[in-house]
Amino acid sequence: MGGIDQAFVQEPEQRPKSSTIEVDGIPVIDMSVSGTGGIEKLASEIGNACRKWGFFQVINHGVPLELRQRVEKVAKAFFDLPIEEKRKAKRDDLNFTGYHDEEHTKNVRDWKEVFDMLIEDPTFLPASPDPDDEEIRTYSNKWPENPPEFRETCQEYCREVEKLAFKLLELISLSLGLPANRLSDFFKHQTGMLRLNYYPPCPSPELALGVGRHRDGGALTVLAQDDVGGLQIRRQSDGEWIPIKPIPNAYIINIADALQVWSNDLYVSAEHRVVVNSEQERFSIPLFFFPSHYVKVAPLDELVNEQNPAKYKEYSWGKYYINRTGSNYKKLEAENLQIDHFKTPESE
Ligand code: OGA
Ligand code: NI
Repeated sequence: MGGIDQAFVQEPEQRPKSSTIEVDGIPVIDMSVSGTGGIEKLASEIGNACRKWGFFQVINHGVPLELRQRVEKVAKAFFDLPIEEKRKAKRDDLNFTGYHDEEHTKNVRDWKEVFDMLIEDPTFLPASPDPDDEEIRTYSNKWPENPPEFRETCQEYCREVEKLAFKLLELISLSLGLPANRLSDFFKHQTGMLRLNYYPPCPSPELALGVGRHRDGGALTVLAQDDVGGLQIRRQSDGEWIPIKPIPNAYIINIADALQVWSNDLYVSAEHRVVVNSEQERFSIPLFFFPSHYVKVAPLDELVNEQNPAKYKEYSWGKYYINRTGSNYKKLEAENLQIDHFKTPESE
């Protein structure tokens, strides 16, 4: 069908429409603060964006452009390698880091290749999703031999974007009326990762997606996209897919599932997807910011009261993560684990 493998073909209702609407996009927030009340104003802009969209872009964020350009260069050099070369650093059943070209989202194959690396090396995670299994496994990164500067450049980039993620976490805490460091302790042994996404040109962009519709499972995502475009988010008010306009050197920030739960649904983890095109390849680099494996995610006490009871039951981040990671790259019959599974009866 359409010259592409059936595994990539989306159900008709999931396929992208060719005409995208022109709309005002998500807020663009300038992170440089000055004067009295600067921080409060910034936090309040972020809070508004998190409530309305769950997405925003930031400029003047402090990550050096020169470093971002170097990472973009090594990413391109890596994905340009012959497939046999890339597969030398392939993800396997015991270690989910490294190169991968068979990811599925909601059981349809994504039109993309990825390279995943943990921000902390080693990272500690539960050995299995089984709640009674207390074994903890140690994960380390796999690295390709080429390009030679790949490892060092990616590690340096992780450190810088991680700083931005911690800064955003503080601003988000403030925006919820909480102390700046309220969420920071959850990330003492963070389990996040950096992903390099490569979306090759697709002969049937009307049938496939680069990434099918999904919500990010972690706490926060900090994404660099190139100038091609393709990321779309689902607008809460009418379910319409809204394209996110590339802005040079900006980062796209989105609230992911744990923050939706901590905020007791004040903030949204919005659905998004990536459309592909037949002419241009596209690169994007998300940093997925995840809590420590032992963190129990539940609505924050300060945001819950009798009138506004907790909308979620507590869940273990590590178990949730391992459960979802296992199902990410296998085609499963059932839908994978989502935070909706932890909704309390009161919230219905
Ligand atoms: C993701 C994602 C968006 C993009 O990798 O989870 O949503 O623009 N990527 O590549
Ligand atoms: Ni995503």
